[in-house]
Amino acid sequence: LTVTTAGTAVTGTPGQATARSGWGRPTHAPAAPTPGSPGLGDSYFPDYGNGGYDVDHYDIRLRYEPATDQLSGTTTILARATQDLSRFNLDFLLGVESVRVNGWSATFAREGVHELAINAPRPIVKGQSLTIVVKYAGVPSTTRVNGYSSWTRTADGGLAVNEPESAWWWYPSNDHPLDKANWDVSVSVPAGVEVISNGVQPRPPLAEAGNRVRWSWRSTSPGATYESFLAIGQYDIVTDTAPNGQPVVNAYSTTLGPLAPAARASIERTAEIVEWESTIFGPYPFEAQGGVAGPVDGIGFALETQTRPVYGPGFWRRGSNTYVIVHENAHQWFGASVSVADWRHIWLNEGFASYAEWLWSEEQGEGTAQELFDFTYATYPADDDFWQVQPGDPGANDIFDGAVYDRGAMALHQIRLAVGDDAFFRILPQWTAAHRHGNGTVEQFQALAEQVSGQDLDAVFATWLFTRGRPELSGEAAARA
Ligand code: ARG
Ligand code: ZN
Repeated sequence: LTVTTAGTAVTGTPGQATARSGWGRPTHAPAAPTPGSPGLGDSYFPDYGNGGYDVDHYDIRLRYEPATDQLSGTTTILARATQDLSRFNLDFLLGVESVRVNGWSATFAREGVHELAINAPRPIVKGQSLTIVVKYAGVPSTTRVNGYSSWTRTADGGLAVNEPESAWWWYPSNDHPLDKANWDVSVSVPAGVEVISNGVQPRPPLAEAGNRVRWSWRSTSPGATYESFLAIGQYDIVTDTAPNGQPVVNAYSTTLGPLAPAARASIERTAEIVEWESTIFGPYPFEAQGGVAGPVDGIGFALETQTRPVYGPGFWRRGSNTYVIVHENAHQWFGASVSVADWRHIWLNEGFASYAEWLWSEEQGEGTAQELFDFTYATYPADDDFWQVQPGDPGANDIFDGAVYDRGAMALHQIRLAVGDDAFFRILPQWTAAHRHGNGTVEQFQALAEQVSGQDLDAVFATWLFTRGRPELSGEAAARA
């Protein structure tokens, strides 16, 4: 829950001041409090997240009307100041009615595209606890940034599911994986509508006045903001207990029609797949499991939302699909628990989740990782654009380019070949243990892989992650390709 920001502490340093006033008192007059930085300096998204404070908890209490897509409510943020603050920012798009900081009414202003700047109503000093209460309302699907909304309105409700930004459309936050927090989500909807989110249900859906029902969800492990989600609409919810004793909550949109059996056949294997992945990646890092099969008019991708990935309908079109279950749940270790310290390190998420699919294929006897490597190598001719994206630094517009996934998996296979299976399968759980519920960088992964294997891996990392063009294969490998 800690973050060191570019904008850290420009405060006085008591005890070190040498200048003295004529009155004989130390003058290192407290430096004037300064604004928290409007971003955390991410190399791809410099204004994502905010400096000057660190969030511990979001309490998100909402009311939603599927008929109009009207979302309103209050989010209470528990945070700690990491510097003296005159003002600080939250990332948020909906209309704000009021803001309170530690009980005091605060003035605020919208800045840039997604910044809500809040003036400290009383001085905030470094280390102080902050309670920030934001009341708001809006129609998230019509709240657009460059013509785009991460809130998807569907015929029966809505979905807040996207990466790297989706919280902007439903709760104010410090929207960067460097600032992890726990969260509670509570949503009032008309009776008969389901609401699904991360973690566990601290209480069953409770009836409210006006023929409404309030759903509650709780995330007890720290998570990045993009790992939070909301799915509202008509769902069949199936609960179970995983082999490790954890609650499993699966939810299937009732709009799936003929796709429903394949969605069920896939998502109901989540606990089995998580158990298998635990034997390779280390202990499962979260408190619950599951999956959400989103509606036919929802998203065109899947996302590793913490404890409970959300899947678009496209994954079920060719029948049951365990690979996407393997991929999104591998992200629970690589993405959700070990999160990127900067979006430049996206290979740590997508390369690893893609390689998990190759390991599953190997496990199922459906083709070894080596065969999949050879196939992928041959699929893209040397002059294909595929080879022009460097998975280790793809650029802000290409964080989800196919090369980050496929060449990213190829890079892990080359690392495995270089260090040998024994070291490789010790590196993976050591990595997830060392950065559990934290953040990581590609450089840190290379250092760990070198330490565990005792090998210099500069050439492998440079060739497969940081060089444009199709790498040459040598000897036997070249003959096979
Ligand atoms: N991390 C997601 C995955 O499982 C990718 C999300 C892509 N986002 C999008 N809007 N297409 O690969
Ligand atoms: Zn992925």
